[in-house]
Amino acid sequence: MKNINPTTTKAWKELEDHFGKIENEHMRDMFKNDADRAEKFTIKWEDFYVDLSKNRITEDTRDLLLKLAEECKLEEAINSYFTGEAINQTENRPVLHTALRAGKDAEIKVRGENVIPEVEEVKTRIKNFSNEIIGGNRKGYTGKPFTDIVNIGIGGSDLGPVMVTESLEFYKNHLNMHFISNVDGDHVHETIKNLNPETTLFVIVSKTFTTMETLSNASTVREWFLKSVPEEEVSKHFVAVSTNLEKVEAFGIDPKNIFPMWDWVGGRFSLWSAVGLSISLAIGYENFASLLEGARKMDDHFKTTAFKENLPVQMALLTIWYNNFFKAESEAVIPYSQYLDKFPSYLQQAIMESNGKSVDRNGEKVDYETGTIIWGEPGTNSQHAFFQLIHQGTKLIPADFIGFKESLFGDKGHHDKLMANYFAQTEALLNGKTSEKVELELKSKKFSQEEIDRISSFKVFEGNKPTSTLLVDKLTPESMGKLIALYEHKIFVQGIIWNIFSYDQWGVELGKQLATKILMEFANRNVDEHDSSTGNLLKYYLS
Ligand code: F6P
Repeated sequence: MKNINPTTTKAWKELEDHFGKIENEHMRDMFKNDADRAEKFTIKWEDFYVDLSKNRITEDTRDLLLKLAEECKLEEAINSYFTGEAINQTENRPVLHTALRAGKDAEIKVRGENVIPEVEEVKTRIKNFSNEIIGGNRKGYTGKPFTDIVNIGIGGSDLGPVMVTESLEFYKNHLNMHFISNVDGDHVHETIKNLNPETTLFVIVSKTFTTMETLSNASTVREWFLKSVPEEEVSKHFVAVSTNLEKVEAFGIDPKNIFPMWDWVGGRFSLWSAVGLSISLAIGYENFASLLEGARKMDDHFKTTAFKENLPVQMALLTIWYNNFFKAESEAVIPYSQYLDKFPSYLQQAIMESNGKSVDRNGEKVDYETGTIIWGEPGTNSQHAFFQLIHQGTKLIPADFIGFKESLFGDKGHHDKLMANYFAQTEALLNGKTSEKVELELKSKKFSQEEIDRISSFKVFEGNKPTSTLLVDKLTPESMGKLIALYEHKIFVQGIIWNIFSYDQWGVELGKQLATKILMEFANRNVDEHDSSTGNLLKYYLS
């Protein structure tokens, strides 16, 4: 991959000039002056209707951003990404979550070997295992079918599975799903307190099998299990997903029960691998395969579509526009579906662990902003919580509005109310409310001029708040796969343009090392050298 500081490109300089010109332009006027604006900035692809016109851009902005992508050699980078070049250079690994959904006829080589046959073999194992558990043919140690599945993992080994399982709850079968992630003992004990070991299956997911949280939770669960069940029955109730087969065996898991994954799949992009076993157990393998198929379709779209019509490229460029020119600090993701409750948290790991970097691909400290802060909650709940700040606060917060044309239970009355809010919010954020409108409204309510003068400024909405509207036909496993892959590729494009490595996460290591050291101090009941704040806190905790 090329190492290009984006701020040294011609396009960047032109974007800076252009920004100076349109910074204060109101989108209200942009719409007024161009009857075709909505069409010009809408991308229709498969069951996705994505309207980007409520963003603070003109056609010139788009052209310049496309020029930036070109100067940063995005096209070459996409090719390196999909063909398995070791683009994760700090760990010397390819980044190939896309190979997991490429299909059996693909050929993708890692270190000279086509990985697809291996990927397909593991998929067949996921399929057979899921069918056996769901169908009740594979049973617990007393011969009863499984009723409960507990996924134990953290970060990418938890967020992907739990987010998709909850998002696709409508498609779920009879199995009760549980997810234990936090090393907080209350999480594991609260979860297992009502479980019956006879009918519970534990899926331990850890790419490295060295993660303290997961190993502690797995050990606690194993101890709990062995309180009532003989050790030789462990193999019927414990399976694992990992790259570290030795460590899994050492933990006491039968090698037959290990689902492998590969170092070329990053944790936060791993739900498409056996890390998604819990998803397949919850919604059945056919639905899991549809999820993968949706992602594959988005991969194809991303690889083959001109950048002007390319969803991940366009959405990534918008983020760069706001982050680097408007200096927006964060972005909100607002799904208008309660099922997508966990989608913003999932994106927080995917986006912030990937692009939260301050050193460029040359190893130099960057002198421009990189990763955005992501947050969000489903609408309409979020409207009654933090929308006030988006509408009338001092910060610019571009927001993605994700909605579906159809609801899953088909309750039209509810869905129309939900979607009326979805459309109304983006309209309100765009147009705001002028002082003239406020005054007219107050007059019609018979307010005195004195009263109007006193309160109207509080009621004015500036508007001009950018939103992107993603309207999808229906929440299905396939559309969910497309949506997740859309954001995955958006992350990639941003990393390329910011000239950072998106696929390592060294930043989370320091805290882990220090926690291990502090744990030793707890065991010895002795506080070593620390800064005085930490030292005092540790002494107080131990006292
Ligand atoms: O938080 C760091 C991290 O390495 C994530 O990237 C990863 O998803 C998580 O920890 C869990 O790691 P593992 O699957 O190896 O237990």
